[in-house]
Amino acid sequence: MCGIVGYIGTRPAAPVIMDGLQALEYRGYDSAGIVLINKNTAVNTKQVGRVVQLKTILAAGSTAPLAIGHTRWATHGEPSILNSHPHANSDKTIFVVHNGIIENHEQLRTKLRAEGYVFISETDTEVVPHLIDYYFKQTGSFNTAFKAALADLTGAYAIAAVTTHEPDSLFAARLSSPLVIGVGEEEYILASDPSAILEHTKKVIYLDDHDVAVITKNSLKVHNTRTDKPIEHDVELLDLDTKKAQLGDYAHYMLKEIYEAPETIRSAIRGRVKASKGIVKLGGLENVVAQLRYIDRIVIVACGTSYYAGLVGEYLIEEIAGIPVEVQQASEFKYRCEPFSRSTALLAISQSGETADTIAALKKVEDYGVLKLGIVNTPGSTIARMTDAGVYCHAGPEQAVASTKAFIAQVTVLTLIALHLSDGASKLYKPLLKELEALPAKAEAVLKLSDDIAKIAHKYQNARDFLYIGRQYGYPCALEGALKLKEVSYIHAEGYAAGEMKHGPLAMIDKDFPTFAIATDSPLLDKTISSIEEIRARKGHVFALATEGNTAIEKLADNVVYLPKTMEQTQPILVAIAMQLFSYHVAVAKGFDVDRPRNLAKSVTVE
Ligand code: G6P
Repeated sequence: MCGIVGYIGTRPAAPVIMDGLQALEYRGYDSAGIVLINKNTAVNTKQVGRVVQLKTILAAGSTAPLAIGHTRWATHGEPSILNSHPHANSDKTIFVVHNGIIENHEQLRTKLRAEGYVFISETDTEVVPHLIDYYFKQTGSFNTAFKAALADLTGAYAIAAVTTHEPDSLFAARLSSPLVIGVGEEEYILASDPSAILEHTKKVIYLDDHDVAVITKNSLKVHNTRTDKPIEHDVELLDLDTKKAQLGDYAHYMLKEIYEAPETIRSAIRGRVKASKGIVKLGGLENVVAQLRYIDRIVIVACGTSYYAGLVGEYLIEEIAGIPVEVQQASEFKYRCEPFSRSTALLAISQSGETADTIAALKKVEDYGVLKLGIVNTPGSTIARMTDAGVYCHAGPEQAVASTKAFIAQVTVLTLIALHLSDGASKLYKPLLKELEALPAKAEAVLKLSDDIAKIAHKYQNARDFLYIGRQYGYPCALEGALKLKEVSYIHAEGYAAGEMKHGPLAMIDKDFPTFAIATDSPLLDKTISSIEEIRARKGHVFALATEGNTAIEKLADNVVYLPKTMEQTQPILVAIAMQLFSYHVAVAKGFDVDRPRNLAKSVTVE
């Protein structure tokens, strides 16, 4: 979603902002803009489309040492130059970029209109520069005006502001939307996501909610408006690898990230699993071991693919550790009225660590005194910092909007957590530890099936609909498989528990409504086969995933891909890789931008 980059220092700001905006492209956006401040002159340039297009119209050779830039993912108003950021006051002296949503923008607009302010965009953001202007005209102090304007806003925001009235300062504020400040030599780089900073410095400061920062090239002052006190944040070191985010020889990030599955599993278990000694060690949970003993219920909250990983986790934790688990979409959880006891732990799963709804879910339980756990991929992200304890995924940066390797990492980590919570008591403990170590090689074997899967994908590329079915561990896989296909190929797809076929979905089946069946080995395979028989009887086409050595499915399915034999509990990982490859090949065959599907964003930082 939207991205913010700001720069103040001694170098020309424009290249830093443009590179930063490009580093944020993976989040998804539809327009981009930058305002350069040089002494009392401001040059505001905006463009619909990609950052490279903005580059082509940006006046070359600007030496302006202060600038803010933005990539916009449209929420209020279509993608257009007028709606893109930076937004300005009518005098063009105050400029603002904003991530999040100003919920009371209509009221503020009405109030400002009554004062004679004129609006030129449909955005919620445009009220902010006008509001600052309104207070600036009363007080003559930009800092005071900025804070007064912030006090009027409700909603979520990360805001960066610059003004020709104070061309040596960069202003920033956050509430429920991340902002991080890179600390350089006589320079600061502000961004909504550390990946925009990484190239320049690994030293960063994370702003907290209600923080207002005033930055010059030599100083950073942060004031927290809730406590009304100045605050000195520790400088932290970014633990991110720049190299991993490069595309290399792959045609798309999505393919590259699917191919990283074996290494993803290795990274997730490295130093944590010692099968020969029967050990699973999760350093991130060590400080809450005593509390974990009293946990009798776990509520998992997440969104999108992370939510489906959570559903796999539900099966894993209940079967292996015997602890009841409930998985909720974070967007529902945060508004739901439900009893919540202190012996319940909340487990948030998030690749980015910045998903607004998941953050809101964690905030909701802040006063309940419950244990907040996290499974997060991005070190230092908001969710990683909000939780009491957790386990990092270590999957490295994920660039493609459709999540692939993060799902693999999340399910691997959930397996480790289930084993950890079982305290070795489960009969699955030792075999699973061993199987986890064998899994990367099996994932390699699945990747070798890519060409076979591509052929099948080409056959189905013109399907309008797709049904995905599975049972038990295969059920959340079916949901995730359908999501993956929707996201990148725009084919309508639905995931269903195979046992529910007769309760509705069977009505849709005909020769033009194919089914993707997860028919890997399990005690319920015969029942899944019966569902496939019913589909065949209605002339439905079936593409099935089965387990090597079990050809029972051959005579029923139109196409079968055989996955290596593994335990039922680790099947979701191999199944997911095959499903990801299928979606990828369908989308490529259709000629779509697989890494940046239409209308979607990688990091959903608004509600
Ligand atoms: C967006 C992304 C999905 C992701 C979901 C949750 O919708 O496009 O790929 O699964 O957000 O994101 P999170 O970062 O919290 O896992």
